[in-house]
Amino acid sequence: MDSKIKYVHTGKAGGRRYSATGGRASTGRAASAAPHPPRATKSSYTASGAQGTRPATRVAHQTRANTYVPRRPRRRRSLKPVLAVLAVIALAAGVGCWYFKFRNITVAVNGQSVTTHVNTTIETLLADNDNFGVTPGRLLSVGGNVLDEQGGDVCAVKRGDEAVAAKDFATTTVSDGDALTVENGADATEPNHEEEVELPCAIQSEGHGAVQYVSQWGKPGKKIVAVGETSGETVDKEIVEEATDMVVTSKNLSPKGGKYVAITFDDGPSDYTQQILDILEEKGAKATFYNLGENAQNKPKLTKAVVDGGHELASHTMAHKNLPKLDRDSLRNEITTAFDALKEASGETTQMIRAPYGAFTATEWARSGDIVSCNVLWNIDTLDWKRPGADAITAAALDGVKNGSIILMHDGGGNREQDVEALPAIIDELQNQGYKLVTVSKLMELDGSIPDEVIENKVKLPEGSVLPEA
Ligand code: NI
Repeated sequence: MDSKIKYVHTGKAGGRRYSATGGRASTGRAASAAPHPPRATKSSYTASGAQGTRPATRVAHQTRANTYVPRRPRRRRSLKPVLAVLAVIALAAGVGCWYFKFRNITVAVNGQSVTTHVNTTIETLLADNDNFGVTPGRLLSVGGNVLDEQGGDVCAVKRGDEAVAAKDFATTTVSDGDALTVENGADATEPNHEEEVELPCAIQSEGHGAVQYVSQWGKPGKKIVAVGETSGETVDKEIVEEATDMVVTSKNLSPKGGKYVAITFDDGPSDYTQQILDILEEKGAKATFYNLGENAQNKPKLTKAVVDGGHELASHTMAHKNLPKLDRDSLRNEITTAFDALKEASGETTQMIRAPYGAFTATEWARSGDIVSCNVLWNIDTLDWKRPGADAITAAALDGVKNGSIILMHDGGGNREQDVEALPAIIDELQNQGYKLVTVSKLMELDGSIPDEVIENKVKLPEGSVLPEA
């Protein structure tokens, strides 16, 4: 032992510093100053307050001028078990994930086994297998026309006996052991929407006979139609309210209370008209004259003379056109201008016509039924325009005559000498047979079945009614 070494108290409990030599106390450099630092030995001890009183002799055994305070080694826990558990959990999760999301399953499609993953949708199954070779349906318009040869359902799928709608392919998954049937796709219809539209009325004709008039006015109905979004086509879906058709009735007249006939003259007035008026007056007979508007404009005094003689004045249209060959506006113009011409010449208002050639079809009624009270044809055609001779004309006029007959003759349109010659005999014979010669309106009045507005020339389209499209 080196006797020169002594220790000093540093004032700190347990803290000691060594002074190397010369008795000088060193405080900061004691350890490094020691020539031979001691090894940490078991003999070293940590001074404490209590130990501070230990004998110096014991300290004298210290060979190093340093204090070494060993830490008690901490016992470390191992992470291995935890990691092992985590690994197991992760593995289990992975396996579970695979099992529930990716494990293979087998389904039967059209009797053939197909392997796929669990949770596969029908859409994916079809795509992965090229739709199993089936043909898609077509995309049709609402009217049934093909818009796209392959625009319909991709295919028709049944799971077991249950059909799966095409719209559900993407959300329906298959299960292990499913039996699927995949067939050609059904046709699909383009997207469409419904609208309520007017249901147009049509025109009907009923009966047969010389006098034609509107017996029922048309009214539109309502219907639901489907309108194709792509095609624009419109298809009837449902009738909400039936339309009421316009009805034109044709009938022969049966005057009550006696025997009546009506002699009628077309194509005037002409230079023969006055002679005819004179004969009628002499015989006490009334007749009906279907004047052409143009002739009434040319010979207004004769047209006026017809009315003044107590006869009936009606229209044979303006210029003797074949009315079914006219469009709607021309037809109405041909009719109204003639009425105006007759009114201008005579002061009389009429809505009665005799269509040239008798040609007035349902189409003409649909186009002008609101301005025509009646179209008057004939029961007996004298064929006077062929100029067969007065006797032949007379014979024809009397052939088959009966109560309510309307007899056709002409006071214009050519040479009417034979008409003038035949007329007295015709009237005499009819009167001898007990017939009274009256106007067509009088025949209608005596018939009793013709609406008053027709007889009185007061026809108009009732409120809420419409003419059919024509
Ligand atoms: Ni004529």
